[in-house]
This record gives sequence, C-alpha cells and structure tokens, in this order.
Amino acid sequence: MRKVSTRILILYFAGVIIFFALRAVLVPPTFGEVGWYRNASVEEIAGLETKIGEEYRCFNCHGNEFAEWSVGEHRNISCESCHGLLKSHAENPEETAYDEFLSLKAFNSSIEFCLSCHGVSVSKPESFPQVSVEHNKYWDCLRCHNPHNPVGGES
Ligand code: HEC
Ligand code: HEC
Ligand code: HEC
Ligand code: HEC
Repeated sequence: MRKVSTRILILYFAGVIIFFALRAVLVPPTFGEVGWYRNASVEEIAGLETKIGEEYRCFNCHGNEFAEWSVGEHRNISCESCHGLLKSHAENPEETAYDEFLSLKAFNSSIEFCLSCHGVSVSKPESFPQVSVEHNKYWDCLRCHNPHNPVGGES
C-alpha cells in the first residue's frame, strides 16, 4: 500500500513541475502584466501601417469620378469600399500592383460585384435597395448604371 501512494505522490509532483516548466516556455513575454493578454501587443497593433487612402486624396487625381460620386446615391460608400485599400496607390500611383485593386477585381463580373451588396436578403432592412437576379441576369450592370452615380449618372 505504501509503495502505491508514494508513486502517486511522485507522479503528482512530476506533473506540477512539468506544468510550470512548460508554462515558463510557452507563455509569451509580457502576458498577464496588466490583463489576460500580451501587454506588448497593444503597442504592436498601434504601430501597424495604415492602408486606407481616404477620399480627399483620391479627389486630387480622380476629380471626374469624385464629382459624379459626390452627388450620387453611392456618396456614402467610400471609394475604397469598392476599390480596395489604396493608400500606397494614392502615394505612388504608377507602382500600384494589379492585385491591390482586388476588392473590385475579386469578382468575375459586375453582376456578382453589385449583387454582393444589392442581392436580396431577408436580413437586410427593407429600406436597403435590393434587386433580385431577375432585375438583370445577363447584362453588365454597368451597361445601365454608372457605379459612381448609379441613378442619375451617364453609364
Ligand atoms: C497622385 C495621384 C493619384 C491618387 C492620389 C490616386 N490615384 Fe488612382 N490612379 C492614378 C493614376 C495615374 C492611375 C492610372 C494608373 C495606370 O493606369 O497604371 C490611377 C488608376 C486608378 C484606378 C484604375 C485602376 C484600374 O483598374 O485600371 C482606380 C480604380 C483608382 N486609381 C482609384 C483610386 C482611389 C480609390 C484613390 C484614393 C484612395 C486613388 N485612386 C488615388 C493616380 C492617383
Ligand atoms: C459602388 C462602388 C464604387 C465606388 C463607391 C467607387 N467606385 Fe470607382 N469604379 C467602380 C466600378 C465598378 C468601376 C469600373 C467601371 C467600368 O469598368 O466601367 C470603377 C472605375 C473607377 C475608375 C477607373 C475609371 C476608368 O475609366 O477606367 C476610377 C479612377 C475610379 N473608379 C475612382 C473612384 C473614386 C476616386 C471613387 C471615390 C470618389 C470611386 N471610384 C468610388 C465602383 C466604385
Ligand atoms: C459596398 C456596397 C455596395 C456596392 C458594391 C454597390 N452598391 Fe449600390 N448602393 C449601396 C448602398 C448602401 C446604397 C444606398 C445608399 C443610400 O441610400 O444612402 C446604394 C444605392 C444604389 C442605387 C440607388 C438605389 C435607390 O433606390 O436609390 C443603385 C441604382 C445602385 N446602388 C446600384 C449599384 C450598382 C449598379 C452597383 C455595381 C456597379 C452597386 N450599386 C454596387 C451599396 C453598394
Ligand atoms: C437594362 C438596364 C439595366 C441593367 C442592365 C441593370 N439595371 Fe438596375 N435599374 C435599371 C432601371 C431603369 C432602374 C430604375 C430607375 C433607376 O433607379 O435608375 C434600376 C434600378 C436599380 C436599383 C434600385 C432599385 C430600388 O428598388 O431602389 C438597383 C439597386 C439596381 N437597379 C441595381 C442593379 C444591379 C445590381 C444590376 C446588375 C445585376 C442592374 N441594376 C442592372 C436598369 C438596369
């Protein structure tokens, strides 16, 4: 009987030691200093580079699109919601890589692209303009709608 309980005790203490040894190796530095997270992550996240270019910069070079957009139904949708985050393009237009315009180019057609927002879904408020596929199955939506001014603009 005694032998068994000694073994159990040894196992128990071995477990405790292994736990603390692993913990010392696996828990990253600065974890738990102020809360249940890595304190250093706050600074790291604050230091990330911003990627958003902001409308006023687009305006400097794309005055025509901006002028249409600013009076159309899409004026509350930022350029970059459709075109992708383009800070580096705004700073250095000639060097923009093709896939930086990805948000738009990730879609196969304007039908897919426009319906990604305008597709019918019961989860959207009724006031949100939604069109079923029946509105237009075959044509480019851009044939009739200018994306920068979808109701009044020349397409
Ligand atoms: C400093 C001037 C400048 C700024 C600022 C600028 N652009 Fe451009 N943009 C250009 C030039 C020049 C081209 C043409 C590049 C080419 O054809 O290779 C272009 C091309 C584009 C295109 C067409 C890409 C394609 O598919 O052919 C889009 C879309 C675009 N810009 C969106 C934006 C948006 C959105 C912003 C604001 C975040 C912006 N641009 C800011 C100069 C600028
Ligand atoms: C609702 C989505 C949407 C928004 C918002 C939007 N665009 Fe566009 N934009 C498009 C689409 C779609 C095209 C492609 C049009 C085409 O191929 O005829 C386009 C084309 C362009 C082009 C290329 C034009 C050309 O002749 O090749 C530029 C430049 C551009 N947009 C700039 C802007 C700027 C600047 C803003 C903000 C002021 C903006 N866009 C806002 C959807 C959008
Ligand atoms: C990022 C989401 C988004 C994309 C992509 C988008 N739209 Fe819109 N669109 C909106 C929102 C939001 C409104 C309503 C704006 C408001 O009421 O302030 C709107 C309004 C409209 C309206 C006016 C509807 C009305 O009853 O007033 C038309 C037409 C329209 N969009 C067509 C298009 C077309 C065509 C495309 C593709 C080129 C497109 N939209 C792409 C979000 C989007
Ligand atoms: C043959 C021309 C044509 C094509 C193609 C077309 N539309 Fe329309 N669309 C119209 C007309 C006309 C209206 C009604 C007048 C207006 O609001 O401009 C309209 C209205 C809309 C509205 C407003 C509906 C509402 O109830 O408020 C949206 C959103 C819309 N279209 C999106 C699209 C999308 C997305 C596509 C591509 C899948 C598309 N349209 C293709 C002609 C077209």
